[in-house]
Amino acid sequence: MIIGVPKEIKPAERRCALTPAGVQQLVAHGHTVLIETEAGVGSGLPDGLYESAGALVCSTAEEVFERADMVMKVKEPLPAEWPLLRAEQIIFTYLHLASSRELTEALARAGVIGVGYETIQRPDGELPLLTPMSEIAGKLAMQEAAAALNVHRGGRGILIGGVPGVPPAEVVVLGCGTVGVNAVEVAAGLGAQVTILDINLDRLRHLNEVTHGRCITVYSDPVTVARAAAYADVFIGGVLIAGARAPKLVTEAMVKTMKPGSVVVDVAIDQGGCVETSEITTHDEPYVLKHGVLHWGVPNMPAAVPRTATLALTNATTPYAVKIADLGLDAAAERFPDIALGVNVRGGEIVHPGVRAAFES
Ligand SMILES: NC(=O)c1ccc[n+]([C@@H]2O[C@H](COP(=O)([O-])OP(=O)(O)OC[C@H]3O[C@@H](n4cnc5c(N)ncnc54)[C@H](O)[C@@H]3O)[C@@H](O)[C@H]2O)c1
Repeated sequence: MIIGVPKEIKPAERRCALTPAGVQQLVAHGHTVLIETEAGVGSGLPDGLYESAGALVCSTAEEVFERADMVMKVKEPLPAEWPLLRAEQIIFTYLHLASSRELTEALARAGVIGVGYETIQRPDGELPLLTPMSEIAGKLAMQEAAAALNVHRGGRGILIGGVPGVPPAEVVVLGCGTVGVNAVEVAAGLGAQVTILDINLDRLRHLNEVTHGRCITVYSDPVTVARAAAYADVFIGGVLIAGARAPKLVTEAMVKTMKPGSVVVDVAIDQGGCVETSEITTHDEPYVLKHGVLHWGVPNMPAAVPRTATLALTNATTPYAVKIADLGLDAAAERFPDIALGVNVRGGEIVHPGVRAAFES
């Protein structure tokens, strides 16, 4: 199969869909890899590394799209890329089609086979190609919050871990899935006093066990969330209800009770946010101040660390790309149900039930 990797064109997107190591694997399996020049530069991966791994470097995206049987990307195809799509071509990338009728229609019109990273799902419900980005977002959330507590950033002027004789910061993590656990890991590592809230008691039990009771676990309900918000120096929102907008668990009234200079990092902002006062911000201006509380609301947090993000993403995607390239999409989907669930559009039709439901409602 010919696999093509164009340079990402979304503003500020520096990740790349394949690393030289990924190229090496595909080439070893007898496939051809075309990569647009400088596609890896934003992640510290120059063309020479791709050439050494066996890729052919193309000077334009047009050439990559024209020759590739499967195009691998990071972000969804943007309007400038739509005219380059070809019928029956596999587009393997994050698609998030349920949030864009326009893109869905463009892919259907082009007749491509859109395989979305985000709907590849294992039988146990795991979303293996979303997990690495949540791991990064969780760790980054805590790093950013720790810096934001510094007084020159507008924070409370508190050192996360405290010092002997001075208590550490109170970090509250609401929603302890992948984002939450990774935030907890960093917060605990920095010496914070951590409270974890979730509605999944098994998860709380597990966290209680692995942190040896060092973190306080609390069942999440409106009363416990309100109480925790009021004492938090840092409040991290990592709630997810699969396929739905994030519930607004922290109301504006609760935010008003928070300490001045405390920090909210609403990682769930990409699903609308779980804090009522959150709004979407950018890496250039990540914070807004509301009721004296700093709110971080960047929906594409991993973009801040493209080197790590490219490696983490491609560690997860490359094995799937190899299976699709080796077997062809149909045989790969038949053999691996997780790949079958990745197919969102095909032959001009929306084939993923979740995406179809989003447009029928
Ligand atoms: N901003 C970004 O750049 C970025 C990056 C990655 C992920 N995210 C977002 O972060 C969010 C979390 O992702 P994840 O991978 O950790 O999801 P996950 O499914 O692993 O975890 C979600 C957790 O929320 C819990 N939850 C659900 N309802 C709750 C409630 N009422 N109270 C408390 N907890 C509740 C669940 O039990 C689960 O443990 C998602 O919205 C995801 O899209 C954002």
